[in-house]
Amino acid sequence: MKPPIAIYPGSFDPVTNGHLDLIERGRNIFGQLIVAVLRNAEKQPLFTVPERVEMLREVTRDWPNVEVDIFEGLLVDYARRRHAGVILRGIRAVSDYEYELQMALMNRKLEPGLETVFMMPALKYSYLSARLVREIAQHGGPLEGLVPTVVEQRLRAKVS
Ligand code: PNS
Repeated sequence: MKPPIAIYPGSFDPVTNGHLDLIERGRNIFGQLIVAVLRNAEKQPLFTVPERVEMLREVTRDWPNVEVDIFEGLLVDYARRRHAGVILRGIRAVSDYEYELQMALMNRKLEPGLETVFMMPALKYSYLSARLVREIAQHGGPLEGLVPTVVEQRLRAKVS
């Protein structure tokens, strides 16, 4: 039996093919996968939270067990409210590990019943990040294979 509910939290500014790869892997393992976009007042995002949610909903619309939601405050509180038992995070390279370990252990301290599960995206996405995608877009570089087509169009429109 698949564990019932997992949360895949993040900024998703914007969703990349690496995120999408992880969502697909996650939805094959968990009964329900909630992709949760952090509403973070501190960061200077390229896309607004509603824009990011819209793109995520569009690219996951064929997957019935994937839901896109917004959260603020502590992730553990949100997970409790959504009755989730798992936090899903992607690890691309060793460089991600330190930050992810710190977050996972802090979340465990805050809520021992919540388990963090790490998954690796496909190797071809191991160097891909939303930050680099934004940078390439801002300088008019090629985005094929890095983001879904709808996101590429939104990026082009945003920076034009
Ligand atoms: O895509 P990101 O920016 O790496 O995602 C980071 C995120 C959203 C997972 C993290 O910042 C988070 O969970 N923020 C919510 C606040 C919180 O719970 N902080 C304590 C984490 S130990």
